[in-house]
Amino acid sequence: MFPDLFRDDVFTLETPRLFLRWPKASDAAAIVTLAGDRRVAEMTARIPHPYPADEATKFIIAVRNANADGHQLMLAISTRTNPEKLIGMIGVERGCAGTEFGYWLGVPHWGKGYMTEAAQALIDALFLYTEEDAVSASIRVMNTASRKVLEHCGFQYEGGGMCIRPAWGDSTPSDTYRLTRSLWSSLKGWRAPVPYGRELAAGGM
Ligand SMILES: CC(C)(COP(=O)(O)OP(=O)(O)OC[C@H]1O[C@@H](n2cnc3c(N)ncnc32)[C@H](O)[C@@H]1OP(=O)(O)O)[C@@H](O)C(=O)NCCC(=O)NCCS
Repeated sequence: MFPDLFRDDVFTLETPRLFLRWPKASDAAAIVTLAGDRRVAEMTARIPHPYPADEATKFIIAVRNANADGHQLMLAISTRTNPEKLIGMIGVERGCAGTEFGYWLGVPHWGKGYMTEAAQALIDALFLYTEEDAVSASIRVMNTASRKVLEHCGFQYEGGGMCIRPAWGDSTPSDTYRLTRSLWSSLKGWRAPVPYGRELAAGGM
């Protein structure tokens, strides 16, 4: 179970450009529009297409319940300049196969580095505030953008297989990636070397 910090709906994360918060009822219309775009839905296992109009409200209630239970932390992504306007979602969920990572972003917001920024913030929170040893993510083999997001966050390729997509009633070739606490910790501690003699020079000798 995730810690109490994540289970309270006042929990938020901020990045230089983004604001991550629990989803709320007023996000329903944005979810219908953005998740309802086939280009978003077809890359996921759980977003149906076409997206039923009443699905978003049910989804928001389910997310808030699961967040409060501590089985997942699913956050709405918005910009710091407009925190009320949802532009995507990101989350980690505890399952029998370990902790899994998932996300989507509305098409108008693709290609600005937003998801890499959001993903790095959530991964930091996961490893800083929980005792998780690792987090995994599965992507469709064709999903180059998502693969790059994972690579930019330090995820390592684990292997290929088939991913069952409940919302689509099919299965599709997929690749699985994993990030361990140990690798995350190493990347976070990576610093540039100090050239020999520079410290002495700075000290005026
Ligand atoms: C995957 C997704 C979240 C990426 O969001 P994003 O904010 O556009 O990603 P970023 O801007 O952080 O881009 C990360 C990298 O992917 C690249 N990229 C973005 N869109 C791309 C595309 N359509 N094709 C190829 N590369 C793409 C970026 O150039 C960047 O690479 P670089 O820094 O090495 O040049 C978004 O495309 C999306 O929501 N897709 C549909 C849902 C989905 O795939 N969810 C994940 C399911 S596992």
